[in-house]
Amino acid sequence: MLSDAAAPTVRILETSDDVEAAFEVFRIALVGLPPLSVPAVEFHEPGRTFGGYLDGELVGTASSYTTHVVVPGGARLPHAAVTRVGVLPSHTRRGVARALMNAQLADARQRGVSIATLRAAEGGIYERYGYGVASHVDVVTVAARRARLRPGIAVGGGVRLARSAGAWSLQRAIYERVDPGWTGAISRTSEWWKVRELRVVEEKQQFVVAVYGPPGAETGFARYHPDGEDLVHVDDFVAVDGVARAALLRYLFSIDLVETVRFDALAMDDPLRVMLVDERPVRTTSIEDEIWLRLVDVPAALAARTYRGSGEVVVGVVDGVVPENAGAYWIGAGGAKPSTAAPQLTVDVAGLGAVYLGGTSWRQLAAAGRVSGDLALVPVADELFATESAPFCGTFF
Ligand SMILES: CC(C)(COP(=O)(O)OP(=O)(O)OC[C@H]1O[C@@H](n2cnc3c(N)ncnc32)[C@H](O)[C@@H]1OP(=O)(O)O)[C@@H](O)C(=O)NCCC(=O)NCCS
Repeated sequence: MLSDAAAPTVRILETSDDVEAAFEVFRIALVGLPPLSVPAVEFHEPGRTFGGYLDGELVGTASSYTTHVVVPGGARLPHAAVTRVGVLPSHTRRGVARALMNAQLADARQRGVSIATLRAAEGGIYERYGYGVASHVDVVTVAARRARLRPGIAVGGGVRLARSAGAWSLQRAIYERVDPGWTGAISRTSEWWKVRELRVVEEKQQFVVAVYGPPGAETGFARYHPDGEDLVHVDDFVAVDGVARAALLRYLFSIDLVETVRFDALAMDDPLRVMLVDERPVRTTSIEDEIWLRLVDVPAALAARTYRGSGEVVVGVVDGVVPENAGAYWIGAGGAKPSTAAPQLTVDVAGLGAVYLGGTSWRQLAAAGRVSGDLALVPVADELFATESAPFCGTFF
């Protein structure tokens, strides 16, 4: 029964029954998501599932995985990978998601997490909680028969295929050994791997894992599944270096009967096009937002990344949710630190999240009216925040 007076309450769910009920709430919220055959407690990280209540009834939930994220310069920061946010359709727009997101943020701060990221089902939900779009991905199809690698590319040997149940532990072992260090990469928890495997196995998806490198010292893998008779989807692609990348690409483009290889997520500066003799077989089908990033601890996150150039700027940060983050920060090639100087450029924390990994520019933010102050300093800020590569995570959660 609806009650105008009811304010949502939130608590961390610990018992198997509560965790199961929360997963059920999430599935109903995310219309059409099939159940999994094992109890939710087997793939939830203890202490990370929140329940949102109205009138004593569990009506919403939000979870996270505890991982690290790589920031510009290579530092790995404590990170919350926010996932499974949902409110029952019967109880939406009554503040449950807000209560959950705020409680989750407060908990993450208390645990020393510097950054939270998520993937958004819709674009209008998360900016109000301080999340900004920090990276995009290129969704591409490749006409495989016309895709030839340039002759000068070092390719190495062939790949081998892993198809059995052991393919999952192998992918995980490779990912952990490779330990991706590109800006935006995250570590993956055992719960994350479990959910991936369960979804694929229970949807009876035929999948193949192509692996590159000697057993025990592999440097990359591509997991793909067929879609129709002549198309394969690449669901996961991990390569530690150019040789592994080229070997896996050469394999994918040479599978008999396959006309089209689809990559659901490539970095915006992925070298694929440039690696081909003719880049026309590669077509972007869409560009989608990937990392939504929230600076949970602004001073820690700003101090942890590196900056370029010789300029400096004092940035004012507005944060309506975490007041401790609000303030002025001096940023220069030597680093970043809180400052008592007057801010020269002011931005809200979601805007800072968008530029933090270098995937959105200050110029773009300014054009969107999201930066105030001395806009002549925008190019200085852009030089400081520029990164070697476009940020990219490559892990969906
Ligand atoms: C999105 C969802 C979690 C929001 O939950 P909710 O409890 O209705 O959200 P709240 O009542 O706390 O709303 C907080 C604010 O967000 C706004 N909002 C909520 N859902 C929104 C949406 N889908 N798009 C735009 N704004 C939204 C509300 O209008 C409110 O705005 P205000 O700050 O101006 O008052 C819920 O609608 C849901 O579960 N949707 C389906 C599943 C889903 O999309 N989950 C997210 C997976 S990433």
